Amino acid sequence: MIIKAGLIGCPLKKSLSSRLFRLFSYEPGGKYSYTLLETRGPAMARTLEKIKNLGWAGFNVTLPLKEKIIPFLDSLSPEAKAIGAVNAVRVSHGKLEGHNTDTAALKLALKEAGCRLRARTCVIWGAGGAARAAVRALGSSGAKTVYIHNRSFSRAARLVKHFSGIFPRTAFRARKLTDVPGGAATLFVNATPLGMYKPLPVNMRFSGPAGSFYLDFAYARNLTPFLKDRAGRVISGIDLLIYQALKSSELYGGRRIKASEIVKLKDTLKTRLEERESKTARRRGSKRDF
Ligand SMILES: NC(=O)c1ccc[n+]([C@@H]2O[C@H](COP(=O)([O-])OP(=O)(O)OC[C@H]3O[C@@H](n4cnc5c(N)ncnc54)[C@H](OP(=O)(O)O)[C@@H]3O)[C@@H](O)[C@H]2O)c1
Repeated sequence: MIIKAGLIGCPLKKSLSSRLFRLFSYEPGGKYSYTLLETRGPAMARTLEKIKNLGWAGFNVTLPLKEKIIPFLDSLSPEAKAIGAVNAVRVSHGKLEGHNTDTAALKLALKEAGCRLRARTCVIWGAGGAARAAVRALGSSGAKTVYIHNRSFSRAARLVKHFSGIFPRTAFRARKLTDVPGGAATLFVNATPLGMYKPLPVNMRFSGPAGSFYLDFAYARNLTPFLKDRAGRVISGIDLLIYQALKSSELYGGRRIKASEIVKLKDTLKTRLEERESKTARRRGSKRDF
């Protein structure tokens, strides 16, 4: 069976999604025809009509459309509604259902790393869509305190207000991006693009006690500046990317993936993706990061 799917957003030049979904052909049932549709969203209604006419079973959504797409959808999953951002849309009988698979991906990656969230103190840099998915994962898993550091302080404060109402047992605190993280934290999450295209601020290299966990939403072939040389367990954005894509594939008609096999499947896809990307880079004589 060929499942038609794709990705919308802009820019998509560096997106790994189509290469990743092509690899799925070997794994979660169904072969994917996966198309990248670069759009910033001014003609969102027309783009969505086109997608329906093309017969896509679903599509992923990336920057800058994760929030902008919401008014154009017929329904939202409870997850997407709570996060206020959509990264996967299922097309079902001409209706568009918005979902968010980033929270599930984060929980899977943290579980695989052995990071239990109950009673943990955590620091998140960022207050956009990825940060909101992370905050929801931490709140719903019983984290003790979550510090949210952001360039725009008011955006962090809005997140604190929103999630404090939903998860009253977790203490949420807004901080400036440049503030030094609060003590006692043992999980550090980078939910900004910092470190990839712009230098990582010094305070984002703050370390917790030995054995702390460091997770970066951003990804690169080698460790990102946020993850490099940490005395603790590091979790890469590639793992998150693959987990969220696997959870999206279930929405698009791929087979349901058993909890017992998802880590192995992610590892197989990761190895294949890295082999393929290295081969492409060697052929082009480039050292580019993915
Ligand atoms: N691995 C994965 O599967 C995965 C999934 C989702 C996202 N991501 C990555 O995660 C990152 C965040 O994505 P998102 O969806 O949350 O984006 P977003 O909604 O646009 O939010 C971006 C966040 O980064 C901050 N930021 C951006 N540029 C900055 C700068 N120059 N200096 C300081 N802060 C800056 C923003 O701060 P302000 O609020 O002050 O603007 C905001 O908190 C991106 O790199 C994205 O590619 C990866």
